[in-house]
Amino acid sequence: MEKSKAMKRDSIATARLLSEALPNIQRHDGAIIVIKLGGHAMSSPEAMKSFARDMVMLRQCNIKPVIVHGGGPMINSMLEKLEIPTEFVNGKRVSTPETVDVVEMVLSGKVNKSIVSAINGQGGRAVGLSGKDANLLVCEQAAGDLGMVGDPVAVNAKVVFSLIESGFIPVIAPLGTGKNGETFNVNGDTAAGAIAGGLKANRLLLLTDVSGVKDADGDVLTNLSAEQVSDLTEKGVISGGMIPKTQTALDAINDGVRAVVIMDGRMANACLLELFTDYGAGSMIRA
Ligand SMILES: Nc1ncnc2c1ncn2[C@@H]1O[C@H](COP(=O)(O)OP(=O)(O)OP(=O)(O)O)[C@@H](O)[C@H]1O
Ligand SMILES: [Mg+2]
Repeated sequence: MEKSKAMKRDSIATARLLSEALPNIQRHDGAIIVIKLGGHAMSSPEAMKSFARDMVMLRQCNIKPVIVHGGGPMINSMLEKLEIPTEFVNGKRVSTPETVDVVEMVLSGKVNKSIVSAINGQGGRAVGLSGKDANLLVCEQAAGDLGMVGDPVAVNAKVVFSLIESGFIPVIAPLGTGKNGETFNVNGDTAAGAIAGGLKANRLLLLTDVSGVKDADGDVLTNLSAEQVSDLTEKGVISGGMIPKTQTALDAINDGVRAVVIMDGRMANACLLELFTDYGAGSMIRA
């Protein structure tokens, strides 16, 4: 008797929660949302399952997620096994042709397919590809002595649009093609920003392993301006992997994306929280 009363109470609360989400679901109706799933956010099978479920939920609500992923920790462990040394400069991995081979095997082969499987396991229809497919990301060599690190110079988004229109959830590994057919390693954030710009996405969510961009005191900045980014980068408060992330956010805004959010992807239902509730998680950069 008591148990069924409690069940009724919980069910009523669930129904109310669903109903409360309606204005937010309507607000994002038909929107294209590019979501970068950082390698550092894929911390556990549970986190992956929660993320996959959120993607299927979004698609079910006529919101169109496009996923671009990273895979830093997975690449590191494979390089370690193969005894190939690796180093980062300003958050980007210095990439010899040998490194790029490993990056492509790990990202396109393993990480991409595990995200695809997780989404399909929740009833979604995900299709995995990389920035090389249909010349989605055409790159030039990035500045600095980074080797085969690419900067996207052209985005051929047609393949992504056609997948979205057919009801699929594209899952993209951040690699690119050079003008002479060479393979470039592209930082995941950089790739996500370029794709968001190419799709004229409504939003870009950068899911990582920290709760947002932190200031010198370690407090998360909920709203971030271009001036703050350059100031904090100059002072070294924004460092490592946060450099390409904040730079990408600013570039995406310049490319017509309306809002970028940097947030903790390890949190359960991080994307639903951001899109379907009034709670603003992480750091937001607006147009
Ligand atoms: N000011 C800052 N605020 C928050 N995090 C910062 C800051 N400066 C540097 N960081 C670092 O940036 C890291 C996130 O970038 P990182 O490249 O490591 O992860 P990712 O991009 O999510 O994953 P991947 O590169 O595998 O796709 C954080 O874990 C943190 O250590
Ligand atoms: Mg990174």
